[in-house]
Formats: sequence, structure tokens, C-alpha cells
Amino acid sequence: MKIFIQNLPKAELHLHIEGTFEAELLFKIAQRNQIKLPYNSVEELAEAYHFNCLQDFLDIYYQGAGVLLYEQDFYDLTYSYLTKCAEQNVRHTEIMFDPQTHADRGVSFETIINGISRATADAEKNFGITSFLIMSYLRHLSEEEAFKTLAQSIPFKHQIKAVGLDSSEKGNPPSKFQNVFKASVLEGYIPLAHAGEEGNADYVWEAIDLLGIKRIDHGNNSLQDEKLVTEIIKRDLALTVCPLSNLALKVVDNLKDHPLKKMMNLGLKVTINSDDPAYFGGQVNKNYEAIQVALNLTKEDLYQLAKNSFEYSLLDDLTKQKNIQELDKYYQLNS
Ligand code: ADE
Ligand code: ZN
Repeated sequence: MKIFIQNLPKAELHLHIEGTFEAELLFKIAQRNQIKLPYNSVEELAEAYHFNCLQDFLDIYYQGAGVLLYEQDFYDLTYSYLTKCAEQNVRHTEIMFDPQTHADRGVSFETIINGISRATADAEKNFGITSFLIMSYLRHLSEEEAFKTLAQSIPFKHQIKAVGLDSSEKGNPPSKFQNVFKASVLEGYIPLAHAGEEGNADYVWEAIDLLGIKRIDHGNNSLQDEKLVTEIIKRDLALTVCPLSNLALKVVDNLKDHPLKKMMNLGLKVTINSDDPAYFGGQVNKNYEAIQVALNLTKEDLYQLAKNSFEYSLLDDLTKQKNIQELDKYYQLNS
């Protein structure tokens, strides 16, 4: 199964670039930028990666992102992630980035997007991996702040495919961002959002009804509400599920209790993703491996999950079909 997963062509649809910041690279960039970290070694930093909830994690994640200052930092971070994608047979990625996390330190939108875009262009040239960017609004900040970010993004909008909504979910419902999502859609961005990770099913309802999202990040708590499940299936919205993230942030106590297979059995379209791989103990293939073992998934299940990753990506239909044909060929030869 491990080899089957390793060679399985796949896409990753739920990934925060700031969450790919491995401790070694973080230390290297901190040194380069002469920023003192509250840790003395890579090991000490990695020791801090134990969380009881989403907020515990976010505090460390924002601290880590605080060493990113220059275009080259964003380039190095993104190229390092894409190199790992190439090693895992990831053919396409949809990368979230949080401009507001960096704006506070005076890092311009241009610096961030140029660094990330240069890395995605190089990865396409060197590895054949395609990438789209998702600009995510931080939900613990105000809608007014999100509007500022939207305005800053306009000169670069040809480089951005979609908008997302992330950070502290509880107490920050999707309804808070209804106006900025409407404005983002008018600018041509596809609306996406985290919903139902820690927040309940009502937050998922708001995200699909008020924000009109085309894909649900996490969505675990949708299962609290049968009518919602029926509606998600009717609207053909996929859930980007992140097993090791759910385990690390105690959304589930044990991977054996993870609802992924139940979701699939109900007819929900699900994909497997790493979310913040540097912090949650594994890249996308490790997520496939861990959930395969925990839920005893078959090769057919894994094939279906990989197929969903292309089908529910934001790629055009022709490119989706090309990727799926390659996947089908692989499955025929290896099942
Ligand atoms: N930002 C980075 N990872 C996140 C997650 N899993 N949920 C919400 N915001 C995030
Ligand atoms: Zn996420």
C-alpha cells in the first residue's frame, strides 16, 4: 500500500504555505534575517509542536511565519514544499497563503506573491507540477481588514485563483465576511473557506449559503446535520479533509475514529490533504498512509480519493481529464 500511495498521481487542495515551514528552514531564514527565536535549536522548536486545539497551533504557526521578510524567503519556503510534492507524485497543488500574517511586519503583498509565484513557475518548469494560489483572509481579524487585503491583491489578481477563510474558527462565523466574499467574487476569485473544523454545522451552512463557497476546507462537523450532508451532496461540493491535522489538533482523538470513510459511504466527495505538514507530522502521502492503515482503506478507496483530488480541483476540464487519464492508467496497472 505504501508503494501504491507513493506512486499514485494526486493533487493537494488544502495546504497553507506558512504551514510547510520545516524547523530547519525556519532556523536558517531566521538567522539570515537576524531574527532571534525563543528556541535555541531545531530540536527545541520541534518539541513545541504539541497542541490541544486549533488556537494552540495558530500561536506557534504565526510566530514561525514571523521570520519571513523578503521575496527570497517566500521563494525558498514554496520551492521547498514543491520539491517534496515532486517526490510524492503530487501533480497539482492549490496553495493557500495568508497576506495579513505578513502585512503587520511591513511585508508587502508584492514581496509575498512574487516569491511564491517565482517558485511555482520554477516547479512547473522543473517538475511539471501545476499550482494555483488561494489568498486566505484571517477570520480573527475584521471584515474591514479583509477588504484592505482584497484591494492590495487587485494588481496581482491574474496570479490568484481563489479566496479562502482560515485562522480561529470559533466565534468568527462565515457571516462576518459576507460582504468581502461578495466583492471577491465580483473580482473573479473563486470562494472557498474553512468550515466545520472546530465550528459546528451552522458554520458550514453559512459558508455554503452566505459565502457561496465551491469547496469546503475540513467540513468534519457537517456530519452533525443530515440535511446539511444532503445539501452538500446536492450541490456537489467536496470536503478537503486533513487526517493528521485533525489528529494533531484533537478534532479526532484517534485516527481509527476519523469520519473519512463514513463521509465516503454517505456519498460525500472527499480529498486527502496535509494542511500544515511541518507542524502535523507528515506530508500528503503520510496522510494517505496513516488513514489507509487506521480505516483499512482499499486501493479502490485510495484511487477514488486521488480521483476526487483532480475532479474537485480548480483546474480546467481538459487538464483535469488528462490527470485523471494518467491516474486511471496507473490504477489499471497496479490494482
Ligand atoms: N491556518 C493554518 N492552518 C489552519 C487550520 N487547520 N485551520 C484554520 N486556520 C489555519
Ligand atoms: Zn487549513
